[in-house]
Amino acid sequence: MKLVFATNNKHKLEEMRAILGGKVELLSLAEIDCHDDIPETADTLEGNALIKARYIFEKYGLSCFADDTGLEVDALDGAPGVYSARYAGENNDSEANIDKLLQNLTGKNCRTAQFRTVIALILNGEERLFDGIVRGSISEQRRGACGFGYDPVFVPEGYTESFAEMSAEQKNSISHRSRAAAALNSYLETL
Ligand code: IMP
Repeated sequence: MKLVFATNNKHKLEEMRAILGGKVELLSLAEIDCHDDIPETADTLEGNALIKARYIFEKYGLSCFADDTGLEVDALDGAPGVYSARYAGENNDSEANIDKLLQNLTGKNCRTAQFRTVIALILNGEERLFDGIVRGSISEQRRGACGFGYDPVFVPEGYTESFAEMSAEQKNSISHRSRAAAALNSYLETL
């Protein structure tokens, strides 16, 4: 089966190839010669994942899937959520995003949060959504140098280390993205 994964992020592609195994031939956007800047204008993760998947399906007629991820903080009513990349401004600055998050949590007792990834699949024209969640909490200070985004301040439930203190393998074994990918994989295995 051939599926387009609407991304050009090499790490995401490799992780997804490892999870889906040999039965799916994954093609990146570059591999189908798509260099468009696909707008992400929805106000939900589901909406943005669907926008990207529909764009590819409608323009190229290829079965495909797209993902969108957000950090949802309970005491902030689910913010930054779908706006996680641009929380502190349009230039996707992780350091500024973390500063703003820590600032907004100052004085709050409840620091629980979750990462959530939504995958929208369009297979032969039929749409399906999958999600993956990892619960955890936001630490008071940054810890660790691995990973990206909010990893230095996210401590997954049941662990004392932040995502940024874990090896990539350890993080991938429990991450929101790998859980969403596993849900997609389980579905594809039923076909
Ligand atoms: P995307 O949908 O995968 O591009 O993720 C949107 C934003 O969520 C990223 O720019 C990061 O700020 C944040 N994010 C997504 N996944 C992770 C993760 O695994 N660790 C830390 N931050 C993440």
